[in-house]
Amino acid sequence: MRSSHSPRPYNPHSFSSLRASPSLILLALLLFLLFYSLRRPTPPSRNALAHSPTAPAALFLSLSPSANSTIASHLRNLTLRPHLAGTPSAATAATYVLSRLRGAGLRTFTRDYTPLLSYPAAASLALLRPDGALLKPLSLAEPADPTAAAVPPYHAYAPSGATLAPAVYVNYGREEDYLALDRLGVRLRGCVAIARRGEGYRGGVVARAAERGAAAMLIFRDSGGGVERGMVRLGGVGDPLTPGWATTASAGGGRGERLGADDEEVRRRFPKIPSMPVSAAVAVEILRTLGGPRVPPKWRSALSQDETGVGPGPTLVNFTYKEDRKLATIQNVFGMIRGNEEPDRYVILGNHRDAWTFGAVDPNSGTAALLDVARRYGTLLQSGWRPRRTIILCSWDAEEFGMIGSTEWVEQNLGILSSKAVVYLNVDCAVQGPGFFAGATPQLDKLLVEVTKEIKDPDLEGKTVYHTWVAMNSGIIIERLARTDSDFSAFLHHAGVPVIDLYYGKEFSGYHTALDTYDWMEKHGDPMFHRHVAIAEIWGLLGLHLADDPVLPFDYLSYAARLQEHTNELSAFLNGGEFLQPVNASIRELTVAANEASEEGKRLQEQETMEHFAALKRRAFNDRLMLTERSFLEAEGLKRRGWFKHLLYSPPEDYESNVSFFPGIVDAIAQARKFAEGEGQLGIQHEIWRVARAIQRAASVLRGELT
Ligand SMILES: *[C@@H]1O[C@H](CO)[C@@H](O)[C@H](O)[C@H]1NC(C)=O
Ligand SMILES: *[C@@H]1O[C@H](CO)[C@@H](O)[C@H](O)[C@H]1NC(C)=O
Ligand SMILES: *[C@@H]1O[C@H](CO)[C@@H](O)[C@H](O)[C@H]1NC(C)=O
Repeated sequence: MRSSHSPRPYNPHSFSSLRASPSLILLALLLFLLFYSLRRPTPPSRNALAHSPTAPAALFLSLSPSANSTIASHLRNLTLRPHLAGTPSAATAATYVLSRLRGAGLRTFTRDYTPLLSYPAAASLALLRPDGALLKPLSLAEPADPTAAAVPPYHAYAPSGATLAPAVYVNYGREEDYLALDRLGVRLRGCVAIARRGEGYRGGVVARAAERGAAAMLIFRDSGGGVERGMVRLGGVGDPLTPGWATTASAGGGRGERLGADDEEVRRRFPKIPSMPVSAAVAVEILRTLGGPRVPPKWRSALSQDETGVGPGPTLVNFTYKEDRKLATIQNVFGMIRGNEEPDRYVILGNHRDAWTFGAVDPNSGTAALLDVARRYGTLLQSGWRPRRTIILCSWDAEEFGMIGSTEWVEQNLGILSSKAVVYLNVDCAVQGPGFFAGATPQLDKLLVEVTKEIKDPDLEGKTVYHTWVAMNSGIIIERLARTDSDFSAFLHHAGVPVIDLYYGKEFSGYHTALDTYDWMEKHGDPMFHRHVAIAEIWGLLGLHLADDPVLPFDYLSYAARLQEHTNELSAFLNGGEFLQPVNASIRELTVAANEASEEGKRLQEQETMEHFAALKRRAFNDRLMLTERSFLEAEGLKRRGWFKHLLYSPPEDYESNVSFFPGIVDAIAQARKFAEGEGQLGIQHEIWRVARAIQRAASVLRGELT
């Protein structure tokens, strides 16, 4: 990123007519330099700004004062009703966003799809005596939602089923918890597993219980008072019936390939056992009737379980669930600003719109911020600004069912996006409390950091976001986006587009519950809406730089440095580094290429625009920067999960793993534990070579020369 103001270089022609002696020229130069050194501290005048390339950024940031009320008002409007994907109120929310994007002066369009979604049809839960007599019917409603405005708590894609069985408490349902149960001699087979919600993907928790032979699963939250809805499908994102290609809209007569729900490829992605989220109160009702070995001290939580066992039984749980799995229409909404000089290069900002309940945090804090970015861009348009590259604002649908709206769109436009997408900037839950967090592909780290230095901190007067971000972590922490929990997944993991993900606050207690309301946001999350404003400003300013900077603000030295850190971490894990030699060598190659690119970028930035072919040279250089990320993809993708093509940043196969890089190597290490020594090592070495080759490809794309 470029600094906010640089003195204009003097015009050599004004001296040429002087025919002065060299000493006169030297004197003039000295005076000139003195003049500049004296006036440097003076801030640029408004007029100077208006003519400098940073003028749109300054104008963009100056548009904030009214934001508090507009952002709050958008959030209020978007969260009046629950708007689960595929329901009529979801269509109302889509219309709202469409009209506001249009009102801001953006060109709008929509794209409909008809994927397979999943809703609850019926469910029941009761606690029975060991002899089968009814002890107590249990409510599956959410205590926090007395009017039952939202969809009842459920797990999307959990299959129908009826279970009458004793329960076993499995703590968080992790591998280590089952090993502890093994040591206690407790068998889960045929039982109802009851877990408290920990970290990690809920679908992985259900899958592990199924592997352990559980007949059904109930999951509760330890705290917060709500009941957490969520999806439990496995491996892969997007419409389950069209893995790897876009589903069609029903309006198109349903033309296009769609797998059957019984297709093996589809079935293995659905959970094998019925499951259901329950309130903590309901979980306690069951847990306190359990006998068997004592609950281990660490497994006791907010719920008092001192006197109870982990089961199984002796009471019985009668759980029935009927799923309504059906094709439903979803709608992505877009607002576009066509680029003036490079209309075929896309800077894409996106947020999902569908919510499990009212969605004040998840995701409409992000939607309100998106609409504010649109408003400000609209004002810039009125002032005569046109971006160099095309900007697209996206409002995705059905993210909660597995990033379906964004994934179908990426799959449908894969060819275009592969050749033309510069970046994807994601915001899901913009605000769930205090503290700034970000994830990015590493060539964007520097830009992200620079931009946060320009944004006022929402909570501390006189500080910048950068300041408090550093203070919070004693340094800058930027996550690597190997998660599949938001709409960046298809862009990064499948299409190899550089991404950034932004948010304020973590661990929202009302996550996916009926407590995710405007009232909560106004009372607790962001009473002044200043955090919303900060996210909108960081997001929009990132968009402006990426759309307008003549040379893309991509830094591959940072990428190479991060890859070296990952490799060192892995080396410690693999007991020594000789295995990793190929990766180390290719990172050195990438570092050399990144150094050269950094020098070349500086030269291109300084070049007079008058120079012959300067624009073409910059464009060719920018294309190398853009396509370097694409080189980390491999066509056949990860083993057993071919849709994930990014060999550096995709999710690892094991849902409990929190390693966020080199998924193929991480998977191979996990697999090696199951094989004989030699065989496993070969698998690891192969994955190491694949990563090494991907980095080498990137180095060569960045260099731009054939080898
Ligand atoms: C906007 O901020 C003011 C204080 O600056 C506050 O009183 C007001 O309630 C906020 N507006 C909304 C709609 O929240
Ligand atoms: C929210 O809805 C109300 C009522 O339709 C409308 O007057 C207001 O302008 C909307 N807010 C925004 C920011 O568009
Ligand atoms: C279990 O629940 C189902 C559904 O409510 C009910 O039809 C069935 O009779 C119950 N079974 C027992 C043994 O109570």
